[in-house]
Amino acid sequence: MPALHWLDEVPERPLAGNGGGCGDWLWSSAVRMEVSLMVVAGLYAGIGGFELGFQRSGHRTLLMSEIDADAHKVIRHRFGDVILDTDVLKLAELPEETEVVTAGFPCQDLSMAGSKQGFEGEKSQAVNALFRLLEARRVPWVVVENVYFMLHLAGGAAIAYVLSRLEGLGYRWASRVLDSRAFGLPQRRRRVYIVATLDGDPRDVLLADDTADRTWPALDLRRPIGFYWTEGRSGHGLTSDAVPPLKAGSGVGIPSPPAVLLPHGRVVTPSIEAVEHFQGFPPRWTSALRTVRHGRSRWRLVGNAVSVPVAEWIGRRLLTPGSYDASNDRVLLDGARWPRAAWYMGGPRMIATVSECPLRTRPGRLSAFATERWPDLSKRALTGFVRRAYEGNLRYPAGFLTALEANL
Ligand SMILES: C[S@@+](CC[C@H](N)C(=O)[O-])C[C@H]1O[C@@H](n2cnc3c(N)ncnc32)[C@H](O)[C@@H]1O
Repeated sequence: MPALHWLDEVPERPLAGNGGGCGDWLWSSAVRMEVSLMVVAGLYAGIGGFELGFQRSGHRTLLMSEIDADAHKVIRHRFGDVILDTDVLKLAELPEETEVVTAGFPCQDLSMAGSKQGFEGEKSQAVNALFRLLEARRVPWVVVENVYFMLHLAGGAAIAYVLSRLEGLGYRWASRVLDSRAFGLPQRRRRVYIVATLDGDPRDVLLADDTADRTWPALDLRRPIGFYWTEGRSGHGLTSDAVPPLKAGSGVGIPSPPAVLLPHGRVVTPSIEAVEHFQGFPPRWTSALRTVRHGRSRWRLVGNAVSVPVAEWIGRRLLTPGSYDASNDRVLLDGARWPRAAWYMGGPRMIATVSECPLRTRPGRLSAFATERWPDLSKRALTGFVRRAYEGNLRYPAGFLTALEANL
């Protein structure tokens, strides 16, 4: 049985946001109602983006499964009392009390979509482990996060596989692309979220809240511009007043911070603490990793994580679902491109008419941070980027490369 709690006893989220986060959206007035908090099992837990968000919305994490030894140090430090499991592939079963499973499986796992082996091969074991566990125990709710590219991988085969497996197990689902910037974070991070359930209505959790898609600020040298100094040949990630999606790896083979061109011309890089904040974690969330050797792990793990305010919003909607109006939705035809939002309630798969921005939260802005205090990007790194930029044929806003060169 789910535990019953009074909603105004749910702890307020402790994060000091810039301009507020989605945590403010529902709880501004004291509402007294009975809700049932859920017991969470977090698979592929990383440093606990899902689990922290769900905890902030009041749920309780019972088990976290994660294979990386450095991530374990963070989990032990931050979620002291959870059952910590090392390998989803070896996990015999989910605890009986589990009411929600969260899973942001490794995205390499999806890359088998469309290959001869398909999802049956060695490399897709992590995806299949989730379904093996659900086959053994049908947990009432499943929440999945993955990269935006999942929608287009092998013509949609990756997302089709995941959703078909859920359908085969009796789940209804809703899927939606959400951008972390719409949750008050100064990071462009578009990710696919899936909420699936055996009994409830997943649309009332994932699709009920909507505002029009935001127009993000245009690239303009009068605002900070985030970019990937490690790239420059096939992409650069230029983003106005925000950083591009934080990543676990980079074009130079190591996880590394993005760079930011400030309005007066300096090129700086954010600290790991700033970047933890860009994912919605409190600063020093990964501080259990103390040594120099751990530096790279911190960047990798933060780059891999689920943005906490997005998880928090989903967690809150699980407690108090909204009401989704599907009257304008259309059938998703076989072979059509995967839409940014969709749902399935046992009949045909449908295209949902919602944006990537569920809330009216003020978008995150880099200019709200003390960017002046960040260290300069090294001359060597900047020289490499500028050289690649001139060798390649990517487009840059007028004056951008000149402003970078002025630092050399
Ligand atoms: C995309 S990340 C998920 C990050 C996580 N949601 C967070 O907020 O930090 C995928 C994670 O799966 C972990 N992983 C990969 N194979 C695993 C396995 N067999 N068992 C448990 N964890 C695994 C990786 O170490 C990585 O941390």
